[in-house]
Amino acid sequence: AAPRTFRIAAIPADGVGKEVVAAGRAVLDALAEDSGGAFAFRWEEFPWGCAYYERTGRMMDEDGLERLKDFDAVYFGAVGWPTVPDHISLWGLRLKICQSFDQWANVRPVHFLPGVQSPLRKADDTELDWVVVRENSEGEYAGLGGRNLSGRGQGGEVAVQSALFTEVGCERIMRFAFDLARTRAHKKVSSVTKSNAQQYGMVLWDDVFKRVALDYADVETESVLVDAMSAKFVLRPEDLSVVVASNLNADILSDLGSALAGSLGLAASANLNPERRFPSMFEPVHGSAPDIAGQGLANPIGAVGSAALMLEHFGLPDQAARLNKAIEATTAAGILTRDVGGTATTEDVTKALIDALDT
Ligand code: NAI
Ligand code: MG
Repeated sequence: AAPRTFRIAAIPADGVGKEVVAAGRAVLDALAEDSGGAFAFRWEEFPWGCAYYERTGRMMDEDGLERLKDFDAVYFGAVGWPTVPDHISLWGLRLKICQSFDQWANVRPVHFLPGVQSPLRKADDTELDWVVVRENSEGEYAGLGGRNLSGRGQGGEVAVQSALFTEVGCERIMRFAFDLARTRAHKKVSSVTKSNAQQYGMVLWDDVFKRVALDYADVETESVLVDAMSAKFVLRPEDLSVVVASNLNADILSDLGSALAGSLGLAASANLNPERRFPSMFEPVHGSAPDIAGQGLANPIGAVGSAALMLEHFGLPDQAARLNKAIEATTAAGILTRDVGGTATTEDVTKALIDALDT
């Protein structure tokens, strides 16, 4: 049979994004080469990011979305560099793709790896494994607001930053979370808000959660305020399975989750358009890490784990499992970058991951 060829748009963008996307591509190409011709990846790389902005005044080409829309997926590094204000680089590229392609579900597993020390003592003898499901299309990142209300004079500037919550937006991310919970050993969804203080949008969220939960009687539920949930991540993480939260709250909680698992460099994520009308985007949770960029110190595991999520999306769960097993074999063997206490370079880890595919 002809091989299934997946067309992937690679956008390494800035800083360590370049290093970890190169690593992920090498591992995926090795996997395809090993497949005996069953599947192949065809890559196109796009040079967008902050350096591109400095040259052209744009974070991506004007017809960038048009050029991306027929790919099977986008494989993304990280965007942001000290030479460009972060809100310009983020909105001009990553958020633009997420929002234009209606990638409304952001899945961020919190995964503990063998051989990686967690700052949680409990992780040594407790099975910990949960997923943060982030509403990725509205909420606090809807971009609603304004600055510079007139007539207040110098030093009197005012800014408004609003959040958008729609019943449709809440309902679809909650159903996604419940469906995901049904595939897991621990069938539970924890909903996170700050509805005691934010009485409009987040009370709507709570109401929709209660209504949707009625359709999933087999799934346990809880509603927890975000401040209490951040404590719970540290103190009772064994109670968690699927955690669904708004854009900002889930963004913060997933960084906490990846730090608890040992490093921001380990965390993977998928920005999904579940209806598959547009390509989905797979990227590590971390940013461009200017403090370590260009030195071969970046941990590629978050990017490689994101590639595994991409394989699942392609309908290749066995290949995703192979990649995840290679990650576990590599960390268990102590081949670790500096952020997780080792001395290995990005390249060392990448090579070890490729070698581990065969075991
Ligand atoms: P960051 O995630 O880039 O770095 C935070 C800390 O984690 C740093 O100490 C860094 O060295 C470390 N780290 C991150 N990735 C690592 C990896 N793969 N291996 C080893 N260590 C790693 O977050 P920060 O410093 O707040 O932001 C830097 C830039 O990245 C900013 O311009 C920001 O806007 C952007 N950013 C972009 C994101 C994206 O593209 N999705 C997400 C978060 C931040
Ligand atoms: Mg973040």
